[in-house]
Amino acid sequence: MCGIVGYVGQNEAAPILLDGLARLEYRGYDSAGMAVYHDGEIEIVKAKGRLRVLRELTNNGLDLKGTIGIGHTRWATHGEPSVTNSHPHFNKDKSIVVVHNGIIENHQPLRDRLIRKGYRFISDTDTEVVAHMLDNYYNGDPLEAISKVMTRIEGSYALGVLFKDHPGEMYAVRKDSPLIVGVSDEGNFIASDIPAILNHTRNVYFIDNMEIVKLTREAVAFYNIDKEEIEKTMTVIDWDMEAAEKGGYEHFMLKEIYEQPKAVRDTINPRIKDGEIVIDEWHMTEEEVQNLNKIFIVACGSAYHAGISGKYVIEGIARIPVEVDVASEFRYRDPIIDDNSLVIVISQSGETADSLAALREAQRKGVKVLGIVNVVGSSIAREADSVLYTWAGLEIAVATTKAYSTQLAALYLLAIYLGNKRGKLEYAQYKQMVEELQELPDKIQSLLGDKERIQWFASKFAASRDIFYVGRGVDYATCMEGSLKLKEISYIHSEAYAAGELKHGTISLVEDGILVASVLTQPQLYEKTVSNMVEVKARGAYVMALTNIGNYDVEDVANFTIYIPKTNPWFTTSLAIIPLQLFAYYVSLARGLDVDKPRNLAKSVTVE
Ligand code: AGP
Repeated sequence: MCGIVGYVGQNEAAPILLDGLARLEYRGYDSAGMAVYHDGEIEIVKAKGRLRVLRELTNNGLDLKGTIGIGHTRWATHGEPSVTNSHPHFNKDKSIVVVHNGIIENHQPLRDRLIRKGYRFISDTDTEVVAHMLDNYYNGDPLEAISKVMTRIEGSYALGVLFKDHPGEMYAVRKDSPLIVGVSDEGNFIASDIPAILNHTRNVYFIDNMEIVKLTREAVAFYNIDKEEIEKTMTVIDWDMEAAEKGGYEHFMLKEIYEQPKAVRDTINPRIKDGEIVIDEWHMTEEEVQNLNKIFIVACGSAYHAGISGKYVIEGIARIPVEVDVASEFRYRDPIIDDNSLVIVISQSGETADSLAALREAQRKGVKVLGIVNVVGSSIAREADSVLYTWAGLEIAVATTKAYSTQLAALYLLAIYLGNKRGKLEYAQYKQMVEELQELPDKIQSLLGDKERIQWFASKFAASRDIFYVGRGVDYATCMEGSLKLKEISYIHSEAYAAGELKHGTISLVEDGILVASVLTQPQLYEKTVSNMVEVKARGAYVMALTNIGNYDVEDVANFTIYIPKTNPWFTTSLAIIPLQLFAYYVSLARGLDVDKPRNLAKSVTVE
């Protein structure tokens, strides 16, 4: 989604904006632009395509003079990717300039009203409405105009604004789209995410909904929508640029795949004390745990897939019914939730618009929400009743790997914790599960050693048109994530099917040479899935098997086999997903695609 960077200080702004925007590239974008104030004028430069074009147009920013400016990378929503539609957007006499992340939902009636008042629109964007509305309400007081606009626009927004007659001042606001403020001796910053400014400062303020910030070279001041000054607490970021760099890996995705053992260990170990699971962050009374009669897991994309694995595991271990919903469905389907339910919202970014809306919908119904979130201080983390952080660290590649793995780990922790508290596990069983959980990072590590074989295998299928994934139970959940990984970065059509469902239609898609990846790690379902492999092989499929070490008879059917170390069957997704991530990565690499920034996708989906 769009990225915003703003700077006001003692240095030239444009090179700082370009550097910051480059560090937000992972969010996804299709055009970029900057506005810099100099000598009483605001100058704008915009370009379609990669930031490289903007760099070339401005001689790496050196030709755009001025020490205050706002920059933007645009992920098109309203209006095609073009120079005209890219941000920043001016008001009519170029005295107010705006960058925006989010969607102004009532832009059409506002646009109609502004046109009736004589305003002329030059772009198709919802954002231009904001520039003209600011113009309409502006009487010399930026705070006044901004707060008036905020009360009239609906939807989600993070805005950066400059006013020509207030030189040296930058304004920013947010509602449901991320925005942070950074402060340093060299100047002050706004940004959509921390990496954009981490080269300059670690001192950050998280802006809350409906708050306004005024930044000058020397100071930042925060206001509520009534223009009353408010106090905020500064956070010191404790990770550094190394986390935002590739560290010798060709791509962030590969780096992040390799960081999984550490990420999973960091998520599990602090929650195990003397062999017992302790989840201090979860504010549930003993009585609430005992009375829990249903869990709803709500998320999007890979986080949703983690939720599907979680459903099998929680139902299997703790014997509590679990419903898993895509957040964009949950938020509108008026779910039936009673007081003894729990809603778990899973999100890497903590800013996904649909997941955030689902969280609010659950709270509106009076139910407690537990967030499983990676980004500290993000909206979902702040609004949930309790937060279980997944300590995956900064994840840059659009295709999630380590965050997904930590989400699984968090769900396993919850399942075993609940199973024990509710008396569904023998003590010995409980202890053994805790031990097996702690062994997962080393087992993930061992799978990473098989990467050359997987790379060779991926190169054989890099030209595929379709690839199918089949499995049963937990393995079906693994297939869903494996398939998503492949399609998002390789652009190969792929589907995941419950293996038992093949005969009900899907098998007609199987033709000579098509790759069917079969995941079969569940002992009680093993023979059933083998039968399904035989069925597709008989129709010409090339069959890959992903199974537990020891299941060597699978080679009687499979053309290619990958073995995973033995673990408790509930936890096999954590292991089986590793070869599938590597497979997707190497297919994308073989096809010469942009692995970390696949087309049309954004890392953090902050619009509906
Ligand atoms: C996964 O690789 C994705 N890029 C995507 O499906 C992602 O998981 C989804 O958009 C949810 O994001 P979140 O975890 O930040 O909420």
